[in-house]
Amino acid sequence: RIAGPSGLVIFGVTGDLSRKKLMPAVYDLANRGLLPPGFSLVGFARRDWEDQDFAEVVHDAVEEHARTPFREEVWQQLAEGMRFVPGDFDDDTAFEQLRLTVDELDSSRGTSGNYAFYLSVPPRFFPKVVQQLKKHGLADAPAGAWRRAVIEKPFGHDLRSAKELNAIVHEVFAPDQVFRIDHYLGKETVQNILALRFANTMFEPIWNRSFVDHVQITMAEDIGIGGRAGYYDGIGAARDVIQNHLLQLMALTAMEEPASFDAASLLTEKLKVFRAVRLPKDLGRHTVRGQYEGAWQGGRRVCGYAEEDGIDAGSTTDTYAAIKLGVDNRRWAGVPFYLRTGKRLGRRVTEIAVVLQRAPHSPFDSTATEELGENAVVIRVQPDEGVTVRFGSKVPGTSMEIRDVSMDFAYGESFTESSPEAYERLILDVLLGDANLFPRHQEVEESWRILDPVEEYWASHGSPARYASGGWGPAEADEMLARDGRSWRRP
Ligand code: BG6
Repeated sequence: RIAGPSGLVIFGVTGDLSRKKLMPAVYDLANRGLLPPGFSLVGFARRDWEDQDFAEVVHDAVEEHARTPFREEVWQQLAEGMRFVPGDFDDDTAFEQLRLTVDELDSSRGTSGNYAFYLSVPPRFFPKVVQQLKKHGLADAPAGAWRRAVIEKPFGHDLRSAKELNAIVHEVFAPDQVFRIDHYLGKETVQNILALRFANTMFEPIWNRSFVDHVQITMAEDIGIGGRAGYYDGIGAARDVIQNHLLQLMALTAMEEPASFDAASLLTEKLKVFRAVRLPKDLGRHTVRGQYEGAWQGGRRVCGYAEEDGIDAGSTTDTYAAIKLGVDNRRWAGVPFYLRTGKRLGRRVTEIAVVLQRAPHSPFDSTATEELGENAVVIRVQPDEGVTVRFGSKVPGTSMEIRDVSMDFAYGESFTESSPEAYERLILDVLLGDANLFPRHQEVEESWRILDPVEEYWASHGSPARYASGGWGPAEADEMLARDGRSWRRP
C-alpha cells in the first residue's frame, strides 16, 4: 500500500498538532517508502515565511518527534517538495497563490492534481477555509484526479452544531471526499478489536448477553490539560473523548460482523450500534462527572484544574466523566457498557474489559473460590498493547483453592514489526482514499445524539465532584458501579 502521486496542504501548520504529529508522520511515511517520490507538502498560515523557513520548521519537528531514524536522502527528497503560502483564511490573494503553488507542483513534482487539504484549525474556521477552497477552484479535482478534505475534531459541540458543521463542509465536499480524524481508529490495537473478534473462533461465541456480565471501557490519562485551557474549558472530558474515541471503541466492541471490511459495511454496522445505544433514565444515578484537585502526583505537587493557567476558578468543566450505556438489541440486551475517562488519574491507560458472568454453578466449596474474580477478556489499547485473558486456576498445594491468573499477549513479545503511529496510518489512508478508519458524519451525529442529554443534565444539576490528582476519580464513580453490584477494574 503505497500512495500514488499526491500532495498534502496543511492549514494551521504552525499549530501543535501539525508540529507534533502531522509533520513527523509525513516524514515517517516517506522514510518507510510509502509516499511517492514527488510527494509535496504545502503549509498555509499567517507567518512571514519563505519555503526555506517552513522546511526548517518541519525539519525541527521531524528531529524532535519522528519515530524513524533521520536519513538525509529521504529528507532531501521530501524537502524539495515543500512550499509555504503565507496568508489569512479570508485572503483571496493567498488562496490564489495556493492554487498556483499546486499547479506548479503538479508540473515540477508530478503530483497529478491529487491533493488532500488538512484543516488543522479550530472548527470556527472550517466554513471560511472550505468556501475559499471552492471559490479558488481548489475543491474541484481536475479530470482523473482527486481532492479530499481532512478535518479534526471537535466536530461540533452538540448535535445541532455538528449538523451545521457537516452541512457547511458538504456544501463544498461530497461526503466521500471528507475524512474526519479520530486518531484512536488509527491505533493498531483498536484495529485489532475486529481481528480478535472476527478472525478467531474463541471469542465471538461468548461475546453476547448469555456470557458477558458487563463491559468497561477506560481511557485514563495521568496528564492534566497542559497548555490547552482555551480548547478544553467549556468542552470537558465527555465532549473531548467520550463523544468520539470511547463511543468508537464501544461500537467496535459491540457491532455485528460487517459484510466485508470496507468503509460502507463498517459504517452500516457501527451505525446500528449507535442507534441502539440507550441512556439510563436516571442520569443522576448512572453518570458521574468530576474535576481534578491539586495533590502530590508522581513525586511532585500538581495544581487543580481550577488553578490551571487560563481557567476560571469557578469553572464547572468536567475533567472526568463516567457514563453507563445500554445497547438495545438481541446481542446486548441487559448488558451495561460503562465508559469512563479522566485527566490526572493514576496512570495513562486505555483498555476495554469484557467482563464475563460467573460460572452458573460451582462444585467447589465457597472458601475455595473466595479469591476468584470474574473471567475477563481485556483489550489493552495502550500503553502496554496487548490482550489479557483472566480466569481462575487452582493454587498449587494440597487443598482446593482457586485464584485469578492471567494469560497475556503482548505486541512487543509476539511481533517484531513495529506499529505505525496513528497519524501515519491515517494520513496514508487519506492519500489512498481508504475511508475505513474515518467516522462518517452520520456517526458523529449519532454520537452527539447519545451525549447531548447527559451534557444537558449536567448543565442544570450542580457541579462536578472533586477528585484528587493521581487517584482513580471521584468516589461517586465507585458508588455508581457499587449500586449495580460491580466495581471498576484497577488497570
Ligand atoms: C485527544 C484529546 O483527542 O486525545 C486529548 O483531545 C487527549 O485531551 C488525547 O489527551 C489522548 O490521545 P492519546 O493518543 O495520547 O491517548
